[in-house]
Amino acid sequence: MTAKVISMFNNKGGVGKTTIIWNLAVSIASMGHNTLLIDFDPQCNLSIATIGYEEFAEYLKESEKFPYGRTIRAYAQPYIYQMQINNIHLTQPKHKPDQQLEKPGNLDIVPGDFWLNKFADILTVGTDVVSGAGLYRFLVPLLLVNRLSDTFNKSYEYVLIDLPPSFNTLVRSALYCSDYFLVPCTPDLFSAYCIGLIGEVLPSFVKDWKQGKERFLESNKFDDLVRHKGKPKFGGWIFNGFDTKGGKKLGADQYQYDKILKIIETRLIPDLKKISDYNCVPEFIKNLEPVANIEDLNVMAPDSIGQNVPIKYLSTKKPTRGAISSTSWNRGQTRLMEDMDKEYDKLGKHIIDNFT
Ligand SMILES: Nc1ncnc2c1ncn2[C@@H]1O[C@H](COP(=O)(O)OP(=O)(O)OP(=O)(O)O)[C@@H](O)[C@H]1O
Ligand SMILES: [Mg+2]
Repeated sequence: MTAKVISMFNNKGGVGKTTIIWNLAVSIASMGHNTLLIDFDPQCNLSIATIGYEEFAEYLKESEKFPYGRTIRAYAQPYIYQMQINNIHLTQPKHKPDQQLEKPGNLDIVPGDFWLNKFADILTVGTDVVSGAGLYRFLVPLLLVNRLSDTFNKSYEYVLIDLPPSFNTLVRSALYCSDYFLVPCTPDLFSAYCIGLIGEVLPSFVKDWKQGKERFLESNKFDDLVRHKGKPKFGGWIFNGFDTKGGKKLGADQYQYDKILKIIETRLIPDLKKISDYNCVPEFIKNLEPVANIEDLNVMAPDSIGQNVPIKYLSTKKPTRGAISSTSWNRGQTRLMEDMDKEYDKLGKHIIDNFT
């Protein structure tokens, strides 16, 4: 089975990419699907959130046995330098999908590494992509997944890639590997602006790949990977971190929501539809409403990260001191966590039903 590869992408920072991808992965795994998280952000927030700060520090350590640590670097660096060995080290989040569920899927993670900053510099658009000479270097996340399946007999139905807030080569690489991308947005002035930029930049990424691909295929006629990659589709947007009163969005948040919606309708979608090589806006994107609405989780979002417990299970844990003054979550907080858990599940279902 080939995995569906999905990137969580917005060049704006702090919009909830990492928080959403983690909770989404938990939902998809809870529905019985083997899921792999790849932390492709040098900030490594996803690794810290899921594995824990101190534990993650161990994964970074270089030793004779693990010369490149036990992160994505252990696979990517030897690959890029064309060395014989390259190892993959998987780990599981501290908090596993609920074992009481009938048959939860596995949820694994390939930890990130600050070294990804160097990797981003090693990858070059002109020499690797446009010339067609180094397209495989941009497919490293996908090669890693294929290797897990071929050599380690580990196959996944969904691979979710967390990205830095940038348009750099790491983002290109993940998008070239991806079948779909999701775009989280927060209610603020810059989100609408950034969404507009995605419509400008993505078609140029795709164009570069196409150019390189044509050159590459001239002398690699039967290569099947490059031929089918470099075609990421828009999977929807997620409205994250807004407040409500009486079940309705607060006025200021509604205002920003309307602005984002307008940019999506008038700029993002028309720009993506101009891509002629493939259908970047799938049929299921009929109305432009977000595919999930995640409210402001307030102290619960950072406490979830601090405790390495996803929102689905956070209400069963005590809040840490600092997150809240009392020793337990109040009813309003518990209800909000339950409601947002349903939103993450809804997003998971959207993916399972539509990302075919
Ligand atoms: N729905 C939410 N409610 C409240 N806080 C949130 C919510 N989503 C995310 N946060 C908080 O906002 C901060 C940024 O979130 P996160 O790290 O997920 O964003 P990001 O887009 O991955 O950031 P970066 O661009 O730096 O990778 C974190 O402290 C997180 O706890
Ligand atoms: Mg992040």
